[in-house]
Amino acid sequence: MAELVNVEYDTLIPNNVGLSKDRRVQKALEKWHPGYINWWNDLIPREFQESLVYLRTTVSVDPKGWAKFDYVKMPEYRWGILLAPEVEGRTIPCGEHMGDLAWQEVPGEYRALLQRLIVIQGDTEPGSVEQQRFLGKTAPSLYDMRNLFQVNVEEGRHLWAMVYLLQKYFGRNGREEADDLLRRSSGSEEAPRMLGAFNEETPDWLSFFMFTYFTDRDGKMQLESLAQSGFDPMSRTCRFMLTEEAHHMFVGETGVGRVIERTCQVMKENGIEDPYDVDKIRALGVIDLPTIQKKLNMHYTLSLDLFGQEVSTNAANAFNAGIKGRYMEHRLTDDHKLTDATYPVTQLENDAIVLKDMPALTAVNMRLRDDYRRDASGGVGRWNKLIAKHGIQFEMVLPHEAFNREIGVFAKKPFDPDGKLLGQTEYDERVGDWLPNKADGDFIASLMVPCTEPGEYAGWISPPKIGIDNKPGDFEYVKLHMA
Ligand SMILES: [Fe+2]
Ligand SMILES: [Fe+2]
Repeated sequence: MAELVNVEYDTLIPNNVGLSKDRRVQKALEKWHPGYINWWNDLIPREFQESLVYLRTTVSVDPKGWAKFDYVKMPEYRWGILLAPEVEGRTIPCGEHMGDLAWQEVPGEYRALLQRLIVIQGDTEPGSVEQQRFLGKTAPSLYDMRNLFQVNVEEGRHLWAMVYLLQKYFGRNGREEADDLLRRSSGSEEAPRMLGAFNEETPDWLSFFMFTYFTDRDGKMQLESLAQSGFDPMSRTCRFMLTEEAHHMFVGETGVGRVIERTCQVMKENGIEDPYDVDKIRALGVIDLPTIQKKLNMHYTLSLDLFGQEVSTNAANAFNAGIKGRYMEHRLTDDHKLTDATYPVTQLENDAIVLKDMPALTAVNMRLRDDYRRDASGGVGRWNKLIAKHGIQFEMVLPHEAFNREIGVFAKKPFDPDGKLLGQTEYDERVGDWLPNKADGDFIASLMVPCTEPGEYAGWISPPKIGIDNKPGDFEYVKLHMA
């Protein structure tokens, strides 16, 4: 369907779903649009609304050449509805309807289940923009500021993606849910975001990089499973979102890598061998490696909670219904129904961690979390290579899944990062060694001074190896509006 590859830009809402021929949905979205713009305008500080940001905009959903870079004022960014091209004859990849033609309309019996999944996914998208709203003011360079805003406008677009599904397929209920997505807000007392990790603060840039590495990667895993959905519009929406998500994780991985690189470089220049010589290292204006590890511990464990309970009947129902698949479902070679299959799940028995074979159908969350851990460990390995290259004895590690959990079998249990169960008192005494404490936060905050000259970088982070869109190092990624 070639006409759906290129994006219609002559309408208020750019799209490749033929919106101009779908008056009802077009009207509903146009009605929702001002509320969205208000949300954006209230959130992003005024000076950045008027700055010109070198952003990529989608011009086609063809994987080759979908983006065009140009200076844009963020409120004028063309948030649109973009679905990956329809795959003709696509079938439901898993569960009891496996092999049937994928649904183009919502199957009545799964309406509530599907709506719930869309709302939860939709709620995370604006949540992250809210969490990152203050970071523009302390960007370590214009390059980083551009990346932040690129991530932000794309998370805004992901909200549009979910709102489109709600407005098109869920009638009045869907419209109410779409309004509620703009009513809830991160950290709010009365109407918080639905998932814990999206109500936490993102207080500094190291947190931002960890968030885009670890929490956006949870997003990737969820989108990968929803891309396997038998509800075809959901699958197509998620497939296109994944192409954007890849950039968010790039920002995270390279961001953390550049912080590590800078720390190692400064340690070397000053003859510091011991990574635990924290005071000396901090006095040089860089973030010591143990503190970076603490930030990693926090963001990784918060992200693990997003996978939900290890054993879950809701997850089993979604899989069995063919609404949500497993990671890379299409590459797996089992029966895709999991009728008799088992999967090893970590459980707690008399305070001991044991692996127990459970019905695989109820363990799809656990399986996705295992896939996530493998996926997340790749970048950690690359960070360690950077450290090793400088000859410094230190390794970043993913903490044990039992550490610092709020959801699942390990919730609120005093496990240390190695997976050893401690007494609550000992845990409370030592937790400041494993998670960022007040002093760590204050120190990092003290480094967060803006650098707004093209080519200038804050002292705690290395410049990137290559620029965005192959631009040179001193490219003016953001033309700031000075009031
Ligand atoms: Fe997103
Ligand atoms: Fe993202």
